[in-house]
Amino acid sequence: RPADAIVRPQAAAHSKIPLPGDLFAPERRNSRGVEFGARLALEQLLADVKAEAVDLKPIADATPDQTNAALAAAAAGFAAWSRTPAGTRAAALEQAAHLLESRSARFIALLQAEGGKTLDDALSELREAADFCRYYAAQGRKLFGADTAMPGPTGESNALAMRGRGVFVAISPWNFPLAIFLGQVTAALMAGNSVVAKPAEQTPRIAREAVALLHEAGIPRSALHLVTGDGKIGAMLTAHPGIAGVVFTGSTEVARLINRTLAAKDGPIVPLIAETGGINAMIADATALPEQVADDVVTSAFRSAGQRCSALRLLFVQEDVADRMIEMIAGAARELKIGDPSDVATHVGPVIDLEAKQRLDAHIARMKREARLHFAGDAPEGCFVAPHIFELKDAGQLTEEVFGPILHVVRYRAENLARVLQAIERTGYGLTLGIHSRIDDTIEAIIDRAQIGNVYVNRNMIGAVVGVQPFGGNGLSGTGPKAGGPHYLARFAAEQTVTINT
Ligand code: SER
Repeated sequence: RPADAIVRPQAAAHSKIPLPGDLFAPERRNSRGVEFGARLALEQLLADVKAEAVDLKPIADATPDQTNAALAAAAAGFAAWSRTPAGTRAAALEQAAHLLESRSARFIALLQAEGGKTLDDALSELREAADFCRYYAAQGRKLFGADTAMPGPTGESNALAMRGRGVFVAISPWNFPLAIFLGQVTAALMAGNSVVAKPAEQTPRIAREAVALLHEAGIPRSALHLVTGDGKIGAMLTAHPGIAGVVFTGSTEVARLINRTLAAKDGPIVPLIAETGGINAMIADATALPEQVADDVVTSAFRSAGQRCSALRLLFVQEDVADRMIEMIAGAARELKIGDPSDVATHVGPVIDLEAKQRLDAHIARMKREARLHFAGDAPEGCFVAPHIFELKDAGQLTEEVFGPILHVVRYRAENLARVLQAIERTGYGLTLGIHSRIDDTIEAIIDRAQIGNVYVNRNMIGAVVGVQPFGGNGLSGTGPKAGGPHYLARFAAEQTVTINT
């Protein structure tokens, strides 16, 4: 392990949308003038984004009648879509990826205006959305393209087929209003289901344009329906007797509510695929490279204003190096520019709404009383929350997921590493874990013990890449299977074994 250099793995690239780094590091020149090209591309993109007009006037919630009509239309559309060959379904998703790429500026403008995303985050999200379309298309061709012949005695043929279950309800969050929205919907469609999608009430416009794009790409109108509104609409959808599955990303509390709603219904047992929150930890020991820890902590805790389910909330630092590391992390945090997401220099944009800001401000006020403040950034007026770093005496002081740019640090002694792992286990969550260490035995022991869905070693712990880092957690963090992984689509399908006496 190199001990003297910050290691940056090359990001995997599926989509044709440039990686943020391609645009943001024009000084990374090569002999053939990449510098000039990147700067030009960035300027053109910014001009195109600026030219997009995003209408933010309110969108009415669906009425109960409209919600029921969407469910009925999806039920009617199921038969034809489930019989559409998998190759045709996959081709529509590939076309959707192509359309997303060709309309980058439009979707970046939407992500900024409605979701408060920085350019960096909007680019990453757009890439992820296109990657989901292509990855599920490729997986779907393999899984659903032909039935699987099974072995059997002479005179008997056995085959396993996978097909759509029926109407899938897809309920998605505001923090990835394009990527998670499209990930859920395209997976359900690829498996042969018809879909009723309900996006978060904060981000209906992005969902509306994403659905229009999917229809344009070849998904029949009868197979995909959008209903907008708050949790009441979600409750109506999940309580409906005619649905065959639910895919949900959001809070653990709402996932539980959906689970109870599904369990209380008469009729078929309806599967729930839930991806929820986390009190995600990172462990940095005395052998870690401090510069890299500082960089990775700031990225993991503060990027996207901490509004990622994967974000770092609880940093355990070995006592011997804690003062120095905290100082370096605070130093790196001080460099962050907080403000208007459409300004290309901004690192941290707004939080999603006033309610979120008030909740986070209340947490900061509590922490100021109960913990030691190491750093507080400056936030402009409005829906902004500045990055904060607090030191806790005990990890148990953090009892819930705090969905914003607030980092909690706890010191530990090397001989008490087992207690750190117990503290992580006690949260009940199991989404992401970061490890910074140069000792292989320590790394292996932590990985072995931790029941965590995504473990990142000596790097930041956000931004799972589709098809590269299948994403999703255990325990309070979700049901699995992992989004962007090889087992995801199968959970959306029903299996049928056919045995023929020949
Ligand atoms: N998939 C996202 C990430 O890895 C979830 O927040 O950061």
